[in-house]
Amino acid sequence: MKADNDLYRKLRALSATQLWQEEVPKFNRASDVDRQRQVGLIRAVGVVFSTTQHLALKAEVVVWMKGLLNDPSEKVRRYAMAAIPKLGGDVESEKKILSIIQTSQVDREKRKAGAALEKIAGEETLKAVAGKKDALPFSEHKVRANVARRDGPGKIRMDSILDRYDTLRISLRCRRGLEATLAEEVKDAEAKGGKFRLLEVRGSHVVVAAKAPFTLAELYQLRCFDTVGFGLGRVRDPQSSDAIAGLAQLIGSELTERLMSHYTDGSWRYRLAFSGSKNRDEEVQEIAKAAFKVNAKILNDPIEAPWSIDVFVAPTAAIVELRPKVSPDPRLAYRLNAVSAASHPPIAACMARLAGRQDNEVIWDPFCGSGLELIESAILGDVKQLVGTDLSESAVAMTKANFAAAKLAGVKGAFYTSDFRNFNAIPELARGKVSLIISNPPLGRRVRVPNLHGLFEDLFKVASEVLRPGGRLIFVNPVRVEPQDKSLRRTYRQEVDLGGYDCKMEMYVKI
Ligand SMILES: C[S@@+](CC[C@H](N)C(=O)[O-])C[C@H]1O[C@@H](n2cnc3c(N)ncnc32)[C@H](O)[C@@H]1O
Repeated sequence: MKADNDLYRKLRALSATQLWQEEVPKFNRASDVDRQRQVGLIRAVGVVFSTTQHLALKAEVVVWMKGLLNDPSEKVRRYAMAAIPKLGGDVESEKKILSIIQTSQVDREKRKAGAALEKIAGEETLKAVAGKKDALPFSEHKVRANVARRDGPGKIRMDSILDRYDTLRISLRCRRGLEATLAEEVKDAEAKGGKFRLLEVRGSHVVVAAKAPFTLAELYQLRCFDTVGFGLGRVRDPQSSDAIAGLAQLIGSELTERLMSHYTDGSWRYRLAFSGSKNRDEEVQEIAKAAFKVNAKILNDPIEAPWSIDVFVAPTAAIVELRPKVSPDPRLAYRLNAVSAASHPPIAACMARLAGRQDNEVIWDPFCGSGLELIESAILGDVKQLVGTDLSESAVAMTKANFAAAKLAGVKGAFYTSDFRNFNAIPELARGKVSLIISNPPLGRRVRVPNLHGLFEDLFKVASEVLRPGGRLIFVNPVRVEPQDKSLRRTYRQEVDLGGYDCKMEMYVKI
């Protein structure tokens, strides 16, 4: 085994052409015994050709690999069966592998054949499942998921109306610290005739109910949440032996089926994800198998599934939610490009909302990057002028492109490659003209900033110069720096999770 692995690692480093033109012919010429010693080559060929651009060569490799399924050596056949899914698999290999399951006397070989079919199975395998009473060495639900994915990978339907919504609890999840802002957004939207009513704020999510039939597109008009999950229910005592059956019932429930049937175009497939980091692969398999028995239309499949079923485990109960994997996010259609340190979009939307609205806003982001805070602010309306500055020319180009793509009618944009301290040279930033400074500045984490404290001292100085009376400064403050100028009064401070680390979001008003 170690020798097989060593050979595999050595050969894996070779190019596709070297493998095919030098190593494969040697393998083909070798004696039966020697070929068994060289199975590492089969594995290396599978891996290297899984990503190769040499498509003509790959077609030859596929033929060779299928030929190995007839090899007299069980070990060679087994390695070929492991490699075939990496190359894509086809009906011919599926049929051959099925016949190995029927004829092989070796359990290990049958198991490997089953594992390969779980990845490449199609109609042939389904026929075999239908005609077979005895246990087969593969999971029927995986085979069905595989076939379903091939036939219609499925995507989330944003415009389909869910008409039976009465007891539905919808969890809007956001970054910790921003729940109150998200709850305000829901309340504001409801006051303006929106279809969602705030039920409660729980941990780092906000629970809403629908008041009328609704589409996901309508839910995605709210901008401050990150993901949405439909509550499927909870399982008490998640460590108990009954928990698996309880989870399976929720996954296979009428509610899951109703949501999936309304909101999916294509197969109803879900990935099962547990909160926390512990590897729960075995448990996931058991739950998926049990859920398939409850409802065979709903299929567990981690590959490109349009849904995720998220299990949030607490000591006394596990909460189960069905989350549509909405991609691309329609709220970010304007984001053609992003800097590497780009803001998390819902945080930018929360900052824009926290800043509130004044008449004829002139808004400046001194560190605009790709412009998310500016654009999210303008989407809220009543904005006359956006101004962005950034040291990086390419960042400014991104902001310009994103701003154009956002098609913000009546909003002027002026974007400059400049250190924010040089604001005096920018006509739109004349003293006392700016009503809002909004920014996610460099935090000194991914890119070192020489004098981070100094940068924030300067930001406060600049803000007190350019802001008009009543103007606001809202930003993420990673350091303990306060304004020297007492005309900037802090009105908000909240610790926010910026993706694994906490920072203070602060707002100051120029009095
Ligand atoms: C965290 S990123 C901003 C991300 C932006 N909000 C977005 O969503 O893309 C910080 C930006 O500050 C810029 N920057 C750093 N120091 C600066 C300075 N002194 N003046 C202007 N921009 C600066 C960097 O080039 C970087 O693009």
